[in-house]
Amino acid sequence: MRIRADTIPSEKKKTQVLCAFCFEDENTPIGLGKFNKKIDQIVSQSVKEIKGKKNKIAIIHSHKDIPAERVLIAGIGKKNKITSDVIRDVAGNITKKIYDLGIKEFTIIVPNKSSIKTSQTISAIVEGANLSLYDFDLFRKEKSNKNQPDLSLLTSEKNAQNIIKNSIIVSDAVKFTRDVANLPPNECPPAKLGEIAKKIANQNKMKCTVFSKNEIKSKGFGGVTAVGQGSKNEPRFIILEYRNGKKEQKPILLVGKAVTFDTGGISLKPGEKMDEMKFDKCGGCTVLGVMKAISELKLPINVVAIVPSVENMPDGESFRPGDIIKLFNGKTAEILNTDAEGRLILADGLGYGIKHYQPSVVMDFATLTGACIVALGTNVAGIVSNNSKLSSKVKSSSERTSEEVWELPLNDDYMDMVKSKVADIKNLGIGRAAGTITAAAFLANSVGNVPWVHFDIAGTAWIQPSTKSKSYNAHGATGFGVRLVVDYLTNQR
Ligand code: BES
Ligand code: MN
Ligand code: ZN
Repeated sequence: MRIRADTIPSEKKKTQVLCAFCFEDENTPIGLGKFNKKIDQIVSQSVKEIKGKKNKIAIIHSHKDIPAERVLIAGIGKKNKITSDVIRDVAGNITKKIYDLGIKEFTIIVPNKSSIKTSQTISAIVEGANLSLYDFDLFRKEKSNKNQPDLSLLTSEKNAQNIIKNSIIVSDAVKFTRDVANLPPNECPPAKLGEIAKKIANQNKMKCTVFSKNEIKSKGFGGVTAVGQGSKNEPRFIILEYRNGKKEQKPILLVGKAVTFDTGGISLKPGEKMDEMKFDKCGGCTVLGVMKAISELKLPINVVAIVPSVENMPDGESFRPGDIIKLFNGKTAEILNTDAEGRLILADGLGYGIKHYQPSVVMDFATLTGACIVALGTNVAGIVSNNSKLSSKVKSSSERTSEEVWELPLNDDYMDMVKSKVADIKNLGIGRAAGTITAAAFLANSVGNVPWVHFDIAGTAWIQPSTKSKSYNAHGATGFGVRLVVDYLTNQR
């Protein structure tokens, strides 16, 4: 989608559709100037009809009375409830409407009358517009039309063009994450993720290393080896390095779970909805999307990404409940359920990343526990951290991007719940108690004292029946986390 900034007054703008936002119970659309008596009257009648209610839209034909062929008024709800996400959602709905009408070009007046910073408003409009037409059509004969409309944003913000450019990079990275996450498991074994990582590395001057099955085994990645050994599709351990900060500056480490399909292994899952376990690679896909975005944004920082990738299958060579394996950090883990596989591969990723790169901060992303959906539902991701300064920064990024998170506690009592009688730790907690936290407690054994935050995106990584509908999300993967983490990394300095 092509989007550009323009400073022309709205009354003079030549466009097919001139769009303005309108608060609930306010009479005038924000930033929409006066035209002539006739048009002004029709506008004010339409405003009364939709009452500025969120996501309600009115379209007026001007019959060439004014430079704009049509005026579109979009309700954004009550003023005291305005957030950048309302703008993102409504901008997406406007774009879908324009697209459905087959219109090739439209204009949105950037509101400057709200409590949100203009730069954030512009980003939200660009993201909403760009993401709203996303459709995963790779395997369909009937493709969605790639003929997307052009958009101009009317604003006096001096930096608008730059903000637009960056927001397109970020939302394109979200679409990239969705594209990879939506790949079906037969088309996306771990080796394919390795190839995709190499491709974005080459495009954006990053270093990419992919360890093969034999290297994974010989380097001591006991978790990845165990989980991956039941599948004909060999595991991969993917490392991406982006270095654009000071040489002596320690990197930030991102680790993402990429189970290309999770059957549960020998502790086989029930059949219902098992197809959704193609999305068990979403943590890894989010990390890849973040790396694509930051390398295109050329952020002046150092970041290392690690994506351990396996397929969890039942087989004669599968690992079993009862096995004791050795993780990369040297700790032994008793396997009590082969379906609690994510923590095993993440433990190797965290252990290796921390040992080799001495990061200043570590973040991991995983569709780790069904318990997270029970606790928080499908609109909020769980976070667990060992550092309150870091988690509060994450919460700020969450608020700015409206990718919602809620912190769960971690203390020694939870750490005790993953101690084993026969090994150092075990891959289950006690019964169903605090399943999201005991999974994080397992990971904490591979983290130590480095500031760390764990994201459990089991509920938010793809659209589920209880997911709140948003114009900028589409059936399938959401790309959750990319916008939040890019915001965090952007505000590092
Ligand atoms: N990938 C699943 C978690 C999951 C399940 C995410 C459903 C989203 C929707 C994970 O590997 C898993 O199976 N976790 C188990 C852990 C349990 C065996 C301790 C779970 O949540 O049931
Ligand atoms: Mn599992
Ligand atoms: Zn899993």
